[in-house]
Amino acid sequence: MEFIQCSMILLAVISLLSGHQLKAQPANISPTPARALDSVLQDCAYRAFDQPHTGVPYVGIAPSNVSGVKIAVLRLRNGNFRNRGFKRYKEFEIPNGVIVQPYVRRLALVYHNLGNRSSIYCSLPPGYSYLTFVIGFLAYNAENISASNLPELDLVASKSAISIRFSTAKAVPNGRTARCVWFNLDGSLEFRYLVGSNLCSTYRQGHFSIVVNSCRVAPSPVPSRRLSFEGEE
Ligand SMILES: *[C@@H]1O[C@H](CO)[C@@H](O)[C@H](O)[C@H]1NC(C)=O
Ligand SMILES: *[C@@H]1O[C@H](CO)[C@@H](O)[C@H](O)[C@H]1NC(C)=O
Ligand SMILES: *[C@@H]1O[C@H](CO)[C@@H](O)[C@H](O)[C@H]1NC(C)=O
Repeated sequence: MEFIQCSMILLAVISLLSGHQLKAQPANISPTPARALDSVLQDCAYRAFDQPHTGVPYVGIAPSNVSGVKIAVLRLRNGNFRNRGFKRYKEFEIPNGVIVQPYVRRLALVYHNLGNRSSIYCSLPPGYSYLTFVIGFLAYNAENISASNLPELDLVASKSAISIRFSTAKAVPNGRTARCVWFNLDGSLEFRYLVGSNLCSTYRQGHFSIVVNSCRVAPSPVPSRRLSFEGEE
């Protein structure tokens, strides 16, 4: 009898969850080290705010147990941000038309440079290696800058892409092609073409780097001239 009840409850729970299976799964397990780090860094970044001036980036101090990681924080009025973007925030050039959801009057963009911890927190598929450190930016509600444990806002560039201009990158090994990599907040990653020299672009927030696949043999059927110009259009 008890068994039947339990089974029915279980079935009900399963049918409830199945609609949101992909979303529900990550919430059931403890946060990944990368997500836990995002949360710690949000907290530390907000502590860099002391009578913050809107539109001025502040340097934060990451905890000593992640020395080598650099953070910054920038508080913005949502309306201004949407109308004007933000010309230069570290490596990021943010155009107008960026929309955050849910609506907040003020938001903060927390910047990360994972430095020598890049491959610890953002692991690449076998064969890939980093040519730059992993950098990122995440958007949070900044109406109350004492708040901690904030969830990220959804962010999407609705008009044109956000540019990511890496100041330095290791040289691309001969015969290999560099790719931009984007780590979404859910831990999934996507490879994209570079849009220029050391230049990537995105319509979303998250973490970014330039990578190369060291295992793959140079794809000979594709004319090399085409390869070196790909992504430039
Ligand atoms: C680092 O220290 C912070 C507190 O300053 C703590 O919340 C976090 O879990 C620690 N992270 C690691 C990886 O030990
Ligand atoms: C990263 O560099 C910092 C100094 O900038 C050092 O204290 C730390 O041990 C290094 N961590 C790793 C994983 O190499
Ligand atoms: C801001 O957040 C802090 C910490 O959660 C809380 O104590 C405080 O009441 C909040 N202030 C407002 C105005 O909501």
